[in-house]
Amino acid sequence: MSVIEKFRTMEYGPAPEDPKESVLWLDRYQRRFGHFIKGKFQLPVEGKYFETTDPSTGDKIAEVAQGSAADVDAAVKAARAALRGWQKLSGNERARFLYALARQVQKHSRRLAVLETLDNGKPIRESRDIDIPLVARHFYHHAGWAQLLAQEFPGYSPCGVVGQVIPWNFPLLMLAWKIAPALATGNTVVLKPAEFTPLTGLAFAEICNEVGLPAGVVNIITGDGATGEALVKHPAIDKIAFTGSTEVGRAIRRATAQSHKKLSLELGGKSPFIVFEDADLDSAVEGLVDGIWFNQGQVCCAGSRLLVQESVAEKFTRKLQARMSTLRVGSPLDKAVDIGAIIARVQLERIDGLVKQGIAEGATCWQPEIVLPSRGLYYKPTLLSNVHPTSIVAQQEIFGPVLAAMTFRTPQEALQLANNTVYGLAASVWSESVNVALEAAAQIKAGVVWVNSTNLFDAACGFGGYRESGYGREGGREGLLEYLEPTWFKQAPALKATAQSKDVYKASTDVANPITSIDRTVKLYIGGKQARPDSGYSVPVYGAKGELLGEAPLGNRKDIRNAVEAARKAEGWAKTTAHNRAQVLYYVAENLSQRAREITSRLAAAVPKKQAAREVQASVERIFSYAAWCDKFDGSVHNPPFRNISIAMNEPVGTVGVVCPSDSPLLGFFSLVLPLIAAGNAAVAVPSEKYPLIAGDLYQVFETSDLPGGVINLVTGRSSELLKVIAEHDDLDAIWCYGDDALCSVAKALSAGNLKQVWTNDGRLIDWFDVRQAEGRWFLQHAYQVKNIWVPYGE
Ligand code: NAI
Repeated sequence: MSVIEKFRTMEYGPAPEDPKESVLWLDRYQRRFGHFIKGKFQLPVEGKYFETTDPSTGDKIAEVAQGSAADVDAAVKAARAALRGWQKLSGNERARFLYALARQVQKHSRRLAVLETLDNGKPIRESRDIDIPLVARHFYHHAGWAQLLAQEFPGYSPCGVVGQVIPWNFPLLMLAWKIAPALATGNTVVLKPAEFTPLTGLAFAEICNEVGLPAGVVNIITGDGATGEALVKHPAIDKIAFTGSTEVGRAIRRATAQSHKKLSLELGGKSPFIVFEDADLDSAVEGLVDGIWFNQGQVCCAGSRLLVQESVAEKFTRKLQARMSTLRVGSPLDKAVDIGAIIARVQLERIDGLVKQGIAEGATCWQPEIVLPSRGLYYKPTLLSNVHPTSIVAQQEIFGPVLAAMTFRTPQEALQLANNTVYGLAASVWSESVNVALEAAAQIKAGVVWVNSTNLFDAACGFGGYRESGYGREGGREGLLEYLEPTWFKQAPALKATAQSKDVYKASTDVANPITSIDRTVKLYIGGKQARPDSGYSVPVYGAKGELLGEAPLGNRKDIRNAVEAARKAEGWAKTTAHNRAQVLYYVAENLSQRAREITSRLAAAVPKKQAAREVQASVERIFSYAAWCDKFDGSVHNPPFRNISIAMNEPVGTVGVVCPSDSPLLGFFSLVLPLIAAGNAAVAVPSEKYPLIAGDLYQVFETSDLPGGVINLVTGRSSELLKVIAEHDDLDAIWCYGDDALCSVAKALSAGNLKQVWTNDGRLIDWFDVRQAEGRWFLQHAYQVKNIWVPYGE
């Protein structure tokens, strides 16, 4: 071909990366790896190994150990033994190690990139220019946090030994996202890479030794799901961090429910890529190439649902198809290749099966006429259009190079489609109008929104999902908090198991104590109205001396459902200004204060007299505190190393079920419900089981305080029964449960259905009178979730 011809076609030949260095490295280990425990590669106890292969050829690369429960146990013990020494180091000493890890990753960046590409099948262009540089950036950033930890997080301690399970799509990057914050905060780690991609994790193990990281601080166990399960269930683990499928996330939630393991889950997604008619269509097409064909679409935050405005849909599709035809699919080691190989045959078949199902459900399938390599696992970039919003390809994560396209007419319809998913990981919004783009960003329910950009990540910016995309964040301050706990909380004594319903709710046929002093009827409070319980039952409530204090309604499943419905309708509360929310809360405090005397005297029948007076007093103050917080718990703006800023907005979680403490009927209620309300959430609360009559006082205060109906709903009854209904309710976004260990475990186990966020006291005692323990940032952090909105900024 002449130069002129070449210039015309812009054809270019293969540019293969030389894998020699990585091959030598593999050969150095005779292509057989044990687990990395206590600073050494160790033989697996049961002597079992499995193969890892190159998905672009099917060739075996190496054998790695299959981790058994005994291997996991050895690794956890090593991590535990190393914990003290690691925590004794100063922040600066830990920072130096993290800094050295970053440096060492950089020094061996090419070898790591090639190894990643061999094991995973992703284009070398991506592993070299995106994955590995971000790995180094993550360690640098967290070296800084190790240095600043004591100053920036006073009163917090590391969780302890952390178990981490990661997926195969970004093997070394996910390792960095997990290990860097864990080490920076003083934890030690046992990490399990995915079975398809263990090699860069093992290369990282070697790097840990090269920088002299104390033995046992990082342990790497290889194996499959069973190994992961053994790690998750190990009793000596204090925290689990998981990235992977939503189904396994659910299983992990259930498997850890009986423990005090802190849990963060980064799960699947079905992220919308929204193109408005005023978008720069050429840029949007380029963004989409990155959004869905980056890493063969095997990306949890892939822009896998294209929503394009009808008026530009045809034009956009033409441009998109033209661009798709130029995508180069082939050997991932070729530096000029855009799309590499799919991770494994099972995944390829899954992708193909879902595409066929989508076509059967009415989608039109278009693929460019490109020739796939004859060997290896490849799938053509695929456009499914005319997809119905309920089709499986619009709802399920395909995790492959497949785009499901739909059209919309109005921005409102776009947002409705965007939020029509159980997931909420990310979204990409394209419009030249700042108003259109930012309005969409505000309304999309997702942890990350990219405006006129896509798939941008940085260590300083939190990443993580809403809804069934999981909970917890990785990166930034909020990511660090996943590895820390308030020191007092770690040391708090266990709450005595309360003799709950049995004692409080005696049979209403109790004639030994006839009702003599009832001067009012207490009802449920739903949607701003007093309501009779669906059950038609009331139950007597007894005071400290066994005297009958009155009767409280016995709420049931139906009442909770009505309350959730009412709370959902009150979501406008989140949109009222923080200033207005503060005014309402001040008014609640004012009205509580007005009634202080009568409420104290009633409460004094259920709790010691002195406590009653203190509770009312402290409640007024607590309400003041949260009124003050309403317009002060602001987000922040990050300056990632791109031409963007990332606006970290604190958004309310949504509608939250709250099971309140028994022993501090008034103060306990306000301590849990108020931070939620201050943050703009709506609550369905179960007041103290010991003294449910407090509900009558509460709603009288609310009714006179301009609190919109439905923002706080009260359902009295048996905590353990109502808790189950709340935890299983699929339209609640979170549950806060305060109680003994057994109650907290139920909350965790049953919340797994829709993966609602769950926050409990882990059966520990909180002193509601101690401001340090019972109010402030720790509560607000759980009342909000962070949404990072990336906006182009500067030149
Ligand atoms: P997976 O969720 O099964 O695997 C992720 C990790 O969890 C691996 O290290 C695996 O060994 C481990 N694991 C599996 N079962 C476990 C258990 N019971 N307890 C503890 N650890 C366990 O994902 P898989 O099977 O590799 O992929 C299936 C689908 O999941 C994909 O098609 C994709 O849709 C989704 N996925 C989503 C990811 C994300 O980042 N959102 C990442 C990987 C997969």
